[in-house]
Amino acid sequence: MVNDIFLNKVYSSSYPFTRKINKKIFGDYMEKIIEHLKDKKTFKILDVGCGTGQFTSLLSNYFDYKELEVEIDGVDSSPEMLKVAEELTRNDRNIKLIESDILSFKPKQKYDLIFSSEMIHLVDDTQEFFERLNNLISMDGVIAIRTSTHKQLYEREWYKYFPGTLLIDITRHKSSYEIKATLESLGFILKQYEIDESEQINSREYLNIFENRSYSTLRLIPDSIYYESLNKLRKEVLKTDTVIKDYKMTLYIAGKEI
Ligand SMILES: C[S@@+](CC[C@H](N)C(=O)[O-])C[C@H]1O[C@@H](n2cnc3c(N)ncnc32)[C@H](O)[C@@H]1O
Repeated sequence: MVNDIFLNKVYSSSYPFTRKINKKIFGDYMEKIIEHLKDKKTFKILDVGCGTGQFTSLLSNYFDYKELEVEIDGVDSSPEMLKVAEELTRNDRNIKLIESDILSFKPKQKYDLIFSSEMIHLVDDTQEFFERLNNLISMDGVIAIRTSTHKQLYEREWYKYFPGTLLIDITRHKSSYEIKATLESLGFILKQYEIDESEQINSREYLNIFENRSYSTLRLIPDSIYYESLNKLRKEVLKTDTVIKDYKMTLYIAGKEI
């Protein structure tokens, strides 16, 4: 089971370090999202598959900074990821973390913004997932999904070192067509943006991602292949002090009135 990976204590505690989101990149997402949010003073936000709460915390700080009232619910099915999130968001006063599968999450309220980062590829049934979100969003609300398209996955450099991982990711990531068609069938209008998160980072920091098997697909290949591939990557990466971590992502924004 892929989702068992998120129950691993070692994996979840290393996640906020090896999969860290910088504020500048988050700002690029918010610049697009805010354009589509209605001019309100108070917002209810749901972070679906919030994991270790990195985005949950950034969302909280963003709305506080804008002097807008916000209440954020972070929902995740993994208690281990949520333990880390509790710690990471402890200074954010407007966040509630909830352990639940999104498919069985039935709050009384509706949300103005439903945000979900790197989670939709873990969902088996896209239709069922978006039907659930459709039930949770307010009439003028916005759904924002951060994920990779198949093209973006094919273009990503590191897959060539780890045979099999690209195929796993292509198989579990939904095509743009499937995401678009499913949302449109529920009456949503969709916008799609590419966000280039690529950055030059220290080579050691880059290797840490792979040494911790922080991309979950690295935990889905046999250990022998993983270690052999890691050695090849290590030799290549340590030739220079810094490397480009190429990471182009897609932001889908869906709303009934956008
Ligand atoms: C790759 S992590 C992304 C975490 C976070 N959104 C981020 O971008 O840093 C995916 C998260 O989705 C959660 N998840 C997967 N399927 C879920 C479901 N059906 N309901 C709730 N959470 C789920 C996992 O437990 C994991 O914490």
